[in-house]
Amino acid sequence: MSKAIFSGIQPSGNLHIGNYIGAIKQWIDLQNSSKFKVQSSKLDENELIFCIVDLHAITVYQDPKVLKEKILETAALYLSCGIDPKIAKIFIQSENPDHTYLTWILDCVTPFGLLSRMTQFKDKSSTLLRRAAGIASSDARQGFEGRGKDENITVGLFNYPALMAADILLYDTDQVPVGEDQKQHIEFTRDIGEKFNKMYGQVFKLPEPLIQKETARIMSLQNPLSKMSKSDSNPLGAINLLDNNDLIVEKVKKAVTDSGLEIIAREDKPAMSNILTIFESVSGISVFELEQKYKNAKYSDFKNDLAEAVVEFLAPVQKKYTEIREDKNYLNMVLDEGRDYAVAKSSKKVQQVKEIMGLGR
Ligand code: AMP
Ligand code: TRP
Repeated sequence: MSKAIFSGIQPSGNLHIGNYIGAIKQWIDLQNSSKFKVQSSKLDENELIFCIVDLHAITVYQDPKVLKEKILETAALYLSCGIDPKIAKIFIQSENPDHTYLTWILDCVTPFGLLSRMTQFKDKSSTLLRRAAGIASSDARQGFEGRGKDENITVGLFNYPALMAADILLYDTDQVPVGEDQKQHIEFTRDIGEKFNKMYGQVFKLPEPLIQKETARIMSLQNPLSKMSKSDSNPLGAINLLDNNDLIVEKVKKAVTDSGLEIIAREDKPAMSNILTIFESVSGISVFELEQKYKNAKYSDFKNDLAEAVVEFLAPVQKKYTEIREDKNYLNMVLDEGRDYAVAKSSKKVQQVKEIMGLGR
């Protein structure tokens, strides 16, 4: 059975190996399995749509010049990591107005209380509050519930999941390949889609999250208890896809360790487990094999090999990235084609929604 697959990344900073391992790697695996299927039977071809979600990025302030650059950078990175525009569609969210249109409609069926329970909002808003107050505490949630300095906590940040639900529901999406942190937003999407269907009639397909258990949550190299993230205040926490070799080596060398230098993945060794997962994802050698290989090895040798594996993995990605960025026409062609495809599909869904709700003439 053919499936519609939709996912996206915010162009709100530098894409890192957590984005690659948690999301893009899955996209490519799905693409490659559908490429195989295309050859055997057209009927089995998956529909793959990957979005650059710039409207999500502006839920916190983005410098306009930087944002414009990051949008193109993100698109070029999708391609250089291996997304094939002959099989998958790539487009920029803000170039299809149906996303914001459907967001408003979904807002009108979304219970306020349901949005209030989203953990990402609680985390992000409390981080903004702490920054505004100059507090460096890592106690994430405390401090929310308004303490004055809340100008940066926008309605858009609160409403973020409704925009994400619109992204997904517009395309009759079956599966959404993402990292663990997005699971709650996909459950939200299902709840809202189902509620709409019950109120007005069957319009939306309810999507499933696709989350790869072991790699769903890559942690910061500086704090194995916090997620590797674009907005980490410590620049050593994330290896970015476009970092140069020296920087990669430095970040790997400075990665924090657990007590004891045993090279083994175990619950009480979160830092080691995390770097072994990264090693496996970039080298294709399983964590088990790595544990065997480095059983009696010096920790410094292990780290050298890990750095080398990351550098080797990123070299072709970066080379392709440079080529793509030099060919503006090509990137524009891919994004135009993606946008036209997306609009053609989503506008039908919007029409259906308007009709069933009694909107317009
Ligand atoms: P974002 O960086 O928030 O735009 O996330 C884009 C995609 O990457 C989503 O599917 C996230 O779940 C995934 N992702 C982001 N950070 C990580 C991480 N540290 N580990 C695994 N997946 C991640
Ligand atoms: N909220 C997602 C994130 O931060 C990005 C996103 C927006 C997304 N719309 C989406 C992911 C639709 C999957 C499907 O990671």
